[in-house]
Amino acid sequence: MSGQRRKSDLWRTYWDEMARQNTALDQVNRKLRDLKREERFLVGQLGITSGDDVLDVCCGNGLISLKVAEQCSKVVGIDLSEEMIARARVLSRRSRGSNCDFQVASATSVPLAPNSMDLAYCLTSFHYFPGYSYAKQVIHEVLRVVKPGGAFLITEVPDSDSWAHTMWQIIRNPKGEDAFDTLKTKASRSSVERLKKRVQLLFRRITGKKVASDSWTWYSRKEVRKMARTYSDSPCDVDIWPAHTRSRLASYRFDALVYKLQPTDGS
Ligand SMILES: C[S@@+](CC[C@H](N)C(=O)[O-])C[C@H]1O[C@@H](n2cnc3c(N)ncnc32)[C@H](O)[C@@H]1O
Repeated sequence: MSGQRRKSDLWRTYWDEMARQNTALDQVNRKLRDLKREERFLVGQLGITSGDDVLDVCCGNGLISLKVAEQCSKVVGIDLSEEMIARARVLSRRSRGSNCDFQVASATSVPLAPNSMDLAYCLTSFHYFPGYSYAKQVIHEVLRVVKPGGAFLITEVPDSDSWAHTMWQIIRNPKGEDAFDTLKTKASRSSVERLKKRVQLLFRRITGKKVASDSWTWYSRKEVRKMARTYSDSPCDVDIWPAHTRSRLASYRFDALVYKLQPTDGS
């Protein structure tokens, strides 16, 4: 089994376990206020209207998909975790007559026809993809499904060019060697340990997190642009901005909006 497959299977086990949490909000690490906020953000950024068919990539238990579905014609939610999709189907039945369809699927293999969805989004999940080639495959697969003239919005990607990534490298590396190479500093072992502790404290103060998860994949803005631009079936354009979240995560994460342009005549 390849390393990327193994990492992705580990996340599936983790999210299956999360789906067994008591409340629907806890299952996806959300607060009640997030639901309306995310719905408004998605509708505004993607320009979702009542006639649109929308794909929710990594939909979790569908809490956000169900909110978005109130604003459009249909939402298809896909997720790797069978347990999450089971919860999503229960929530969907409870909300009666919902126009949501939830399916177990990997984001690299979306069970939909080419050019069948108007818009797509992947909310707070891109960093769970195990690496660059996997993430590129996801972007290409979603663009296959989105109609020309549509768009794919990706949120809260941890930025590998950010200060947080440098700090995280220092914290993660047992000897601090990579980080010290990066920082062009020579230091004794004990001063490395002292610096690591200080960095850990600072990281916690700034981000509210003890350490950033070792299992996330970080990407640069340039890498995300490149992933979209190497899609060969249609030209693409990309807009990137600091993550929309109001939390402290915004200082080292970004959102990306990939436009699938209409192929120009004769090209
Ligand atoms: C933090 S939850 C986000 C759920 C929802 N998007 C939200 O924002 O509330 C991350 C979700 O990504 C899913 N996921 C992770 N890797 C995936 C993959 N390769 N393909 C499909 N889903 C995946 C997990 O199963 C999990 O449900």
